Amino acid sequence: MDNYFNGKEVHRTLFLDPSLFEREQQQVFAASWCYLGHESLVPETGDFFTGDIAGQPLAMVRQKNGEIVVLHNRCPHKGVKVLAETQGNVGRFIRCPYHAWTFKTDGQLLSIPVKKEYDDCDLSSCAAHKGMQPVAAVENYRGFVFVRLKEQGVGFNEFFGDSLSTLDNMVMRSPQGQLRAIGQPLLHRHRCNWKMVVDNQTDTCHPMVAHESSAGEAIRLWKETGHDGQPPMAVELFSPFMASYEFFSAMGIRTWPNGHGHTGVSNSIHKAYSSIPGYWELMVESYGETQAAAILDDTRHNTVYFPNLMVKGPIQTLRVIRPISASETVVESWIFELVGAPVQLLERTVQYNNLINSPCSMVAHDDVEMYERAMDGLRSQANDWVNVARLFEPGESHEQTQVVSGTSERAMRNFYNTWQQLMQAQDGSTAHG
Ligand code: FES
Ligand SMILES: [Fe+2]
Repeated sequence: MDNYFNGKEVHRTLFLDPSLFEREQQQVFAASWCYLGHESLVPETGDFFTGDIAGQPLAMVRQKNGEIVVLHNRCPHKGVKVLAETQGNVGRFIRCPYHAWTFKTDGQLLSIPVKKEYDDCDLSSCAAHKGMQPVAAVENYRGFVFVRLKEQGVGFNEFFGDSLSTLDNMVMRSPQGQLRAIGQPLLHRHRCNWKMVVDNQTDTCHPMVAHESSAGEAIRLWKETGHDGQPPMAVELFSPFMASYEFFSAMGIRTWPNGHGHTGVSNSIHKAYSSIPGYWELMVESYGETQAAAILDDTRHNTVYFPNLMVKGPIQTLRVIRPISASETVVESWIFELVGAPVQLLERTVQYNNLINSPCSMVAHDDVEMYERAMDGLRSQANDWVNVARLFEPGESHEQTQVVSGTSERAMRNFYNTWQQLMQAQDGSTAHG
């Protein structure tokens, strides 16, 4: 079948079918701009960071001139993955551990042991002569490095459009306009399809239900202690999960073309955090009062970048939803330091990541339980469709930026609409509006 999304429902095979998973790696991930990593992971010449996109191993490497090159992490000789670690430094050149072919830091073939034995084969006519290949397209947007693997496809600015304002805001929360990725990400493996995790990011009608047993309990215990005044940071971070339908409805959802969107247009669960001493003054010093207020008043919640990046600017976290198979997903949760800001902001970010995103999180397991039950439930042939029709508007289109009620499932429909366009496209290049 070709019609997986009918405007209000998505077919259950989207979450189950292994052959669909293989197709979406090519049609969706290789054709879209996918986030690879932050430039602060490779500060020095020769530093590298590795990751997979569309099931293909990649490495970004800092060059002598400061630029970042993204290479296919594959030796041109016999296909060995050259850089095995997640992070490190290649030295003056990259060396394959199998037969010691070496490459410049931009991937060009540098040397081959006993090269004269290739004299008669016209090596320059072989694919191997090209060295480690750069990816088709790279964009370093304010430190966030994105790649598009397919040669032909939509341009970076066209693909993201106004949605880049979330990254702008996150960067400007640093008095120096600079972010630094801290440490390695928390990894959380889920037994579910990756799209369920994406779907969940704009699902504002689940927190007060699914998280009642964790966040609700934390609030109840705090109240039982009889304390007045400022709750501890953990309770402050948990509390908003129990906000009402009215609260989530009023906070709004914005959708952008090409499947991107965010919750928290006029308010968000990040709005109520206590202020950090000294931060406001530093921001005013850098940006002036009006701009500093505008930056910090933007409390957008989850921003979903199609296909698999989730950004939370106000708390400086970012998650990459890594598809492993149709029924397995790893969520990478990164934290960022706002360079030049008080350290308490980073402390809050660390605590948020541990409490909400880590495999030891109390609230994350509520969601995982629901994803896993959905994977089980969707095996039923009683109903082929998953419903995303909440606040559907007859005749709605996903070509324009829209602001709608925060309890709308429009962001999900926007996502599935782009997903379907890409899956139906012949070469992945004509799908974007
Ligand atoms: S496989 Fe890399 S040098 Fe042979
Ligand atoms: Fe949740």
